[in-house]
Amino acid sequence: MLIASLKPRTMGGTTNTGLLAYALARAGHPVTCYDADESLQLATWRAEVDDFPCEVHEADTPAFAETVYPTMDHSRINLVDTGHAENHPDIVDSVLEVADLVIVTASPTEPDYKRLTKPKRGTTLAKLIKRSTVLRPDGKPPTTVVLLNRCNPSPNAKRPKTYGDLLRNGGADGTEPRWDVLTTRIPRVEEIASAVGFPCNKRERKAPFDALVTELTHRGYIPETSPAAVIPSSR
Ligand SMILES: Nc1ncnc2c1ncn2[C@@H]1O[C@H](COP(=O)(O)OP(=O)(O)OP(=O)(O)O)[C@@H](O)[C@H]1O
Ligand SMILES: [Mg+2]
Repeated sequence: MLIASLKPRTMGGTTNTGLLAYALARAGHPVTCYDADESLQLATWRAEVDDFPCEVHEADTPAFAETVYPTMDHSRINLVDTGHAENHPDIVDSVLEVADLVIVTASPTEPDYKRLTKPKRGTTLAKLIKRSTVLRPDGKPPTTVVLLNRCNPSPNAKRPKTYGDLLRNGGADGTEPRWDVLTTRIPRVEEIASAVGFPCNKRERKAPFDALVTELTHRGYIPETSPAAVIPSSR
């Protein structure tokens, strides 16, 4: 299967993609990553640490569906990190043509909410996903979820709930696209802020992403793994 990590602009996408790859591997999934962002930060992360859990293939091409997707081992979980959808809609279009699951990273702040729902320039992610149906074999959009990140970790924090509800409900007046927002939230913490390019050797870099894998599994979006398949997390 192919999971695509998308965002309209800088939102913590590479951080989430990399830490999700670690968590999938901890859960016993065979994982392979693809870097479809021309900045190649995910590929660089893999090159800089000893414990990155899988290969990262460079794949920043608008021919992703034609040239990269056919080379994948579909018995594995393939995970692709994309760049700014605002600036590289051609690559995102090609990824959306073949993705099984899309995870949109979004931060619960006014600028990032507006950038996702009403960007001044560029095509909205909602429209990119909608138009992908024309090219997809089943004519349906990929299953898409929003992962709120950089959330105030306090249980009483208001903004994750406020912006989560706005996304779920199609904005304040219900006229905008409705998003399926995951229950799992990635907290705004220094250990995650500094995760890219470093080993995943801190509890704070693991727990929220283990919860994400659990939620995706419970929803039936990724397969269960047998206990025998679980590999030690020290790698
Ligand atoms: N959970 C978090 N808590 C605090 N800061 C975070 C968190 N996740 C990401 N960040 C910070 O957000 C910024 C963007 O992160 P990242 O590079 O992962 O985003 P991106 O969407 O891949 O950006 P780019 O546009 O470069 O591809 C970084 O400064 C990172 O430290
Ligand atoms: Mg990035």
